[in-house]
Amino acid sequence: MAEARENLPARPYNSLWFFPQGFHYNKDMADKLQLRSFGDYVLIDKIASGGMADVFSARVVGIRGFSKSVAIKRIHAHLAENQHFSAMFTDEAKIASRLSHPNIVQIIELGEVESRPFIAMEFVSGRDLYHVLERLTAIGEPCPWPMAVRIALDLAQALHHAHEFRSPNGQAQSIIHRDVSPRNVLVSFSGEVKLTDFGIARASDREEHTEPGQIKGKVRYMAPEVAAGREIDHRTDIFSLGIVFAELLTMKPYRTGPNDIAILLSIREGRDDKKRFDGLPLDMLYILQRALNRDPDGRYPTAEAFRADLASIATGDLAPMTVLELGHFIGGLFADENAAERRRQAQVDRALERWQKRQSQGSSTAAMSSPSINSASPPTRSGALRETSLAGLLGDLHRNQETGRLDLHRSPLKKSIFFTGGEPVFVISNVEKEAFGEYLVTAGLLTPADLARIRKQSELGNLQLVDLLLRSKAVAPNELYQSLSAQVRDRILDLFTWSDGTFEFYTGERPPEAGMPLNINCLGLIHDGVMEQIPLAFIRKAIGSNRKTLVRRSIFTIPPALSFSGRDQRLMQSLEAQTRSLDDLLHDQSSEERTLRLVYLLSELGFVELQSP
Ligand SMILES: Nc1ncnc2c1ncn2[C@@H]1O[C@H](COP(=O)(O)OP(=O)(O)O)[C@@H](O)[C@H]1O
Ligand SMILES: [Mg+2]
Repeated sequence: MAEARENLPARPYNSLWFFPQGFHYNKDMADKLQLRSFGDYVLIDKIASGGMADVFSARVVGIRGFSKSVAIKRIHAHLAENQHFSAMFTDEAKIASRLSHPNIVQIIELGEVESRPFIAMEFVSGRDLYHVLERLTAIGEPCPWPMAVRIALDLAQALHHAHEFRSPNGQAQSIIHRDVSPRNVLVSFSGEVKLTDFGIARASDREEHTEPGQIKGKVRYMAPEVAAGREIDHRTDIFSLGIVFAELLTMKPYRTGPNDIAILLSIREGRDDKKRFDGLPLDMLYILQRALNRDPDGRYPTAEAFRADLASIATGDLAPMTVLELGHFIGGLFADENAAERRRQAQVDRALERWQKRQSQGSSTAAMSSPSINSASPPTRSGALRETSLAGLLGDLHRNQETGRLDLHRSPLKKSIFFTGGEPVFVISNVEKEAFGEYLVTAGLLTPADLARIRKQSELGNLQLVDLLLRSKAVAPNELYQSLSAQVRDRILDLFTWSDGTFEFYTGERPPEAGMPLNINCLGLIHDGVMEQIPLAFIRKAIGSNRKTLVRRSIFTIPPALSFSGRDQRLMQSLEAQTRSLDDLLHDQSSEERTLRLVYLLSELGFVELQSP
């Protein structure tokens, strides 16, 4: 073993050195293998959780040991009851299922389990382009041009197939994908490139028609006519493909901005495209600029025309990777996870075999639990707010930089706070006065009549509402941005008044709309919640009535984000030197209430410990 190590070439210090072959990954997975039956399928792992749905790896099981990998996409529980989202989801399956092309993920069926629709589709064992770009960036490598060319050629073919698709009776279907972006492009370990997620695609006969003017799709990859709310056609996909291609070639984002609204505005005003393509061959530059023409008439008329042009220059250094080469490249890039996944599949094979054997022996106690909404993705934390304080809970999520959804219930109220990297970014609430439009009315930024007028046009989420507001010039952009941020803050602050209820945290869940970084300071929020919202009686009860209780500073340093007033800082300093009793602290300070709140805040955040004398 020692010998083998010495023979290895020098490598920079990284985790692979210590955990060869994805040791970490595999151990984690092996612990958790829990097969769950789901209609005719068996769910294995959740592989992604997007705005609208979860995606699972799964197997469809046949007779005599037959089983085949599939992917199951299931709409989120909290969206399943919403007719609009539900219709969008089933439309996705109906539109995509008509298409059959090697570069488009094949739909198998649209089904329903426990009144929640799901889509079963071909499983692509590999990674989406977002993850590929992320990994390349992490190791400081560019995307080889032959790979970029190969992906662009394949995507152009996929798009052309969708754009030109005709029904069996010859009628043009005018399918537009509308969300061509790295997360929706899958690259397999065997070198295939496949376009997926027709979730917001438009077909001429789509049941749920999208009106022109509605903003959908990822802003960073959006064609100018979409951002402007004008009528769109298939050439909007060619523009998005151009951005994906440009980003692969340059390894730089084509557009940047502090948030989606800012990017949307910059596209409208024509400030978005810096077109910095230094170092690209001239013919390539010409192709990019034609695909990225702001005027659809200046673009390639069809995805096929783009493909043909690219193919004509794709020789020498630019010759596209073959299937084998691309497979090797992606397989090598994710060698650690790839190996762990193969072991995982073998593990699943064995578990399925045991299960099938038991079934054929007529045993009624099949190993799989019955399907249930929560069994597929159990919460990573849950409890009652009487026992776990909201301040402590939020502080914990912040400290561990968690990403996920925190659900809070106190019948009939329900709120969900989405966290990204430990910061709250989005809140969904069923409290009517907390809806964004109503919020703007309360804040005096919008008249009720304006709101009613705008509502008629849009029943979708905040981004659409924000967009309509900006276009109708009813509210200025910076005011809107601040309102969004203040609204999330207020919705969370209100929660501190809840004295009971339950909570659940689902790791990895992402908000239904493109999350905007709202710059909400989580610790500051907890501070305000404790100092201003929590009923004093609750705090008294939590601290207890024994005035001899000792308050001891713990080892953690208090982050500057928790901005204390001068008086509060003095209290902190007095604790630095020695452990003090509650009685002492109350003596020092003029306001008993303020001191109690502060002690409670510090102890919930883990900065002090309370000890009985
Ligand atoms: N057929 C599939 N095989 C493997 N992974 C998939 C498949 N479909 C989707 N994924 C993964 O799940 C993610 C989300 O799927 P997608 O259909 O784009 O859902 P959303 O509507 O939430 O964007 C993708 O970005 C990809 O990483
Ligand atoms: Mg997607």
